[in-house]
Amino acid sequence: MTVPKFALTENIEKSRADTVVIGTLQGEKGIALASGADVVDAAFDGKLVEVLSSLGASGKAEEVVKLPTLGRLTAAVVLAVGLGKPGQDGAVTGEQVRRAAGAASRALAGTARALSALSTVDLQAAVEGAALGAYTFTDYRSERGEAPVGAVDFLSPAEGTAKAHKATLKAATAIAESVIIARDLINTPPNDLFPASFAERARKLAESNGLDFEVLDEKALKRKGFGGILGVGGGSSRPPRLVRVAYHAAKPAKKVALVGKGITFDSGGISLKPAANMDQMTSDMSGAAAVLASVVLAAKLKYPLDVTADIPLAENLPSATSYRPGDVLSMYGGKTVEVLNTDAEGRLVLADAMVRAAEDEPDYLIETSTLTGAQLVALGNRTAGIMGSDEFRDRVAAIARATGEGGWAMPLPEELRADLDSRLADLANVTGHRWGGMLAAGIFLREFVADGLPWAHIDIAGPSFNTGSPWGYTGKGGTGVPVRTIAAVLADIAENG
Ligand code: BES
Ligand code: MN
Ligand code: ZN
Repeated sequence: MTVPKFALTENIEKSRADTVVIGTLQGEKGIALASGADVVDAAFDGKLVEVLSSLGASGKAEEVVKLPTLGRLTAAVVLAVGLGKPGQDGAVTGEQVRRAAGAASRALAGTARALSALSTVDLQAAVEGAALGAYTFTDYRSERGEAPVGAVDFLSPAEGTAKAHKATLKAATAIAESVIIARDLINTPPNDLFPASFAERARKLAESNGLDFEVLDEKALKRKGFGGILGVGGGSSRPPRLVRVAYHAAKPAKKVALVGKGITFDSGGISLKPAANMDQMTSDMSGAAAVLASVVLAAKLKYPLDVTADIPLAENLPSATSYRPGDVLSMYGGKTVEVLNTDAEGRLVLADAMVRAAEDEPDYLIETSTLTGAQLVALGNRTAGIMGSDEFRDRVAAIARATGEGGWAMPLPEELRADLDSRLADLANVTGHRWGGMLAAGIFLREFVADGLPWAHIDIAGPSFNTGSPWGYTGKGGTGVPVRTIAAVLADIAENG
């Protein structure tokens, strides 16, 4: 899936749009109009608020009301979308705009061309929301149904130059396209997306974006001693891979290593999961998809950084060749792990990839994974759990919230480490209890982080996959979280070191 055709426009009446999108606000005295709606209001003789109120509209977040213009404007329809309540200062956040733009895009399915005035509130957010809200995944349907909105003209904001607006439109489009790369990978079913086919898709993306590409097949993994990846991938007839995609800037300020969990399907293995909702484990490669999409984005936006994505890929299945509870794996770098539960497989493939990633001596390590059901228990399905070294963890968590993707810093309580002690190996892959399951996984990963390397672990078990109804700019299925967070962290590192 690609994004609609986007352009900037100075004037509502110049656009050949079928529908004009304006924002509404939930004011203290009822519905109010956001900026950019003045021309539309004038066409309705200054009575737009009256018209909308009489239809029961309140301006609440994501409310969509459509009005016919009956010749008052070139466009036939006005779509008023709610931004919700403004803050104390009267301003709305980028995320409010992004969600409203997303809700509008979903309601615009079947429309050839729209004009959005939301861009006068926040151009970047309006573009991202419009692109992501228009996303559908229909590759596996015989009938595609109504097409997403075909084109959107964005009304230029009053402040800033035309050149700056163009640059913002371009960057926002690139960001949305990368989120869509991740969504497409996640939404591809596991019969078609397996370690080797994921690696091929990564190779194509690397080639078309001028990135370095490397893949280790099962023989190379064996030769080099990647015991975690081989152990987890051993039960499948479709063997594991370790992919590395790298972007090198001309003058890199810093080196950032990204690692993403790529379990193309997680049945649990011999420690088999219950049947209910097992299909959702098609999304267990969301971290891999996100880091691949992020390194592509780093190249498109020409960040002055070196960015690598190390992507361990395996399918976790039960069979006669599976690893078993009781096995001891010899991990890349030499540590040994006793497997007590084959369903705690993510940390095993990640440990190998993180040790590999640290060999290039990066300045930062960001790892993301659909790692634990405990993340959902602790934080629900929209807030990622962010662990790691104190300072960098807090920085990533603050940025995650600023992007609107959401995230919360979580601790790595020291006392949990002893619960990972093994009877015979350096460590076990699970504790003997369910308490703090998200944190225990983080503690496990910490054992494989190079000394002194600032790192963040982003558990996206919930936020990466929407099993509920569409909302804002998020449809059903793969969400692309945390691509925008990683992009913003990279931008922050590029700027502040
Ligand atoms: N991929 C799952 C975690 C998961 C659960 C992601 C629900 C998305 C939604 C992971 O591999 C897993 O199975 N974790 C186990 C760990 C346990 C055995 C310690 C879990 O959370 O139950
Ligand atoms: Mn599992
Ligand atoms: Zn898993």
